[in-house]
Amino acid sequence: MNPKDIVKRGYDQASLQYRGDAPGKGCDRYRDWLEEIELLVPAGQAVLDLGCGNGVPVASRLSQNYSVVGVDLSPVQVTRARRLVPGAKFLCRDMANAELPTPDHHFGAIVSFYALVHLPREELRPTLDRVMRWLAPGGIFMATIGFLEWEGTEENWLGSGAPMYWSHPDQTEFIRVMTEAGLQLLRTDYVPEGKIGQGHGLILARR
Ligand SMILES: C[S@@+](CC[C@H](N)C(=O)[O-])C[C@H]1O[C@@H](n2cnc3c(N)ncnc32)[C@H](O)[C@@H]1O
Repeated sequence: MNPKDIVKRGYDQASLQYRGDAPGKGCDRYRDWLEEIELLVPAGQAVLDLGCGNGVPVASRLSQNYSVVGVDLSPVQVTRARRLVPGAKFLCRDMANAELPTPDHHFGAIVSFYALVHLPREELRPTLDRVMRWLAPGGIFMATIGFLEWEGTEENWLGSGAPMYWSHPDQTEFIRVMTEAGLQLLRTDYVPEGKIGQGHGLILARR
């Protein structure tokens, strides 16, 4: 199976194990990130959520103040998101080659939490080029990314019976590629998870 099919089928199968319909305790960490978006991005603007999952807690919160478009590869995630967040628009697309029904430079912010880590490495730069095309000048980009470099699969992910695939450079290399694409880094953070070093990086950037 190619990596994209592993990811799509994995989230189709593990959607409920990954996130319930209501925000659970794993969602606390999003609160500060979403507050920062709300401070930086005027209400009423358009926000794109790449790899939006079931829409909880990100699209559900941001759609209270913004016109939110969510993009996700997994039909099950998108079906759930449409039901759980009726105020946002969701597209079942691959962010690496999706055409969006919006003009270029439409979005005041693009967010992507725990999703870029599933992109085959060679698709990172082209995807960031698309982020540049979708973002308005001065627009904000916030994403959680791999902190250390890793590529591989895990069987029976979250006990779902399905495998899952990840591929990411380390944070330094991600920032290099992102800067080359034209985004200007504002700050980074480390998001701890599991054993030391297994956490994610958080980056905030501006177009
Ligand atoms: C770990 S989940 C995170 C969901 C959500 N962003 C959150 O933080 O709750 C990763 C999501 O990214 C989606 N995804 C992975 N690769 C993708 C791609 N190439 N295009 C669009 N969505 C993708 C998966 O289907 C999955 O729903």
